[in-house]
Amino acid sequence: MYQTLLTSLEENILTVTINRPNKLNAINEVVMRELGQVVQEIYSNADIRSAIITGAGTKAFVAGADISEFNGVREDGTALSKKGQDIFSGIERSPKPVVAAVNGFALGAGCELAMSCHFRIASSNAKFGQPEVNLGLVPGYGGTQRLVQLIGKGRALEMLLSANMIDANTALQYGLVNHVVEPDTLLPKTIEILRILNTKAPLALAGCIKASNAVFENENGYEIEAKLFGELFATEDLKEGKDAFMNKRKAIFKGK
Ligand code: COA
Repeated sequence: MYQTLLTSLEENILTVTINRPNKLNAINEVVMRELGQVVQEIYSNADIRSAIITGAGTKAFVAGADISEFNGVREDGTALSKKGQDIFSGIERSPKPVVAAVNGFALGAGCELAMSCHFRIASSNAKFGQPEVNLGLVPGYGGTQRLVQLIGKGRALEMLLSANMIDANTALQYGLVNHVVEPDTLLPKTIEILRILNTKAPLALAGCIKASNAVFENENGYEIEAKLFGELFATEDLKEGKDAFMNKRKAIFKGK
């Protein structure tokens, strides 16, 4: 179905693996287009309740945008950036949780892709960096914005201006990743977390994501929160959650 992505759907978790290991999973035009398609699939396929994005092989999550496609034309550069920004914002705004399982280098667009996910789990060999200044560029897929949001301006600017990579434990200390695990437990740990998320009320998860994103989108987050709270008050899932609590049983949510 995809040329550059492997997908598998198990236990309502879609695992998306970027599959160009010989190029350290660099994001070329096809990968970006297919990421856009897979985001649509995550939104529209009711069997998918959450998703993982990872990279093929043991060396890289994604080592950046494919540098061989940079042609030095201003309009093309702007269009490339806007297209990537839109697709990565689609991940960030996904109503279903999308988690990055970072299995090696997450550089440039790779770090940006990981940051567009709702949170990140890293293997102990993961390395994060925004090396664009080495090429004479700034990050183009939201990296300048999300890095500041996630780790604060001082740390972000040191990473952006120095192009230095940070290791998984430093990323953990910075709050860029939530957990660091051994490489062979990366996917099992990520799946274990998503299994738990998949038992929660889907519309409530979507509401948490939407309200959290509002903090950074120049919107009145408190108003959005109150509106979502009201909308969720009228759902069947709230009745189910309340009944399950009162009767000391596990809730079974339907997303209605
Ligand atoms: N775009 C295109 N190709 C890339 C790439 C990228 N961002 N990152 C790696 N590759 C390719 C290499 O060209 C090489 O291809 P080849 O075997 O056909 O020559 C292959 O992937 C393996 O990479 P290589 O550089 O040989 O591996 P390494 O272990 O020596 O170094 C890195 C690993 C990640 C340090 C190095 O590949 C690197 O610096 N990549 C670019 C990172 C970057 O600047 N990203 C931001 C882009 S905006």
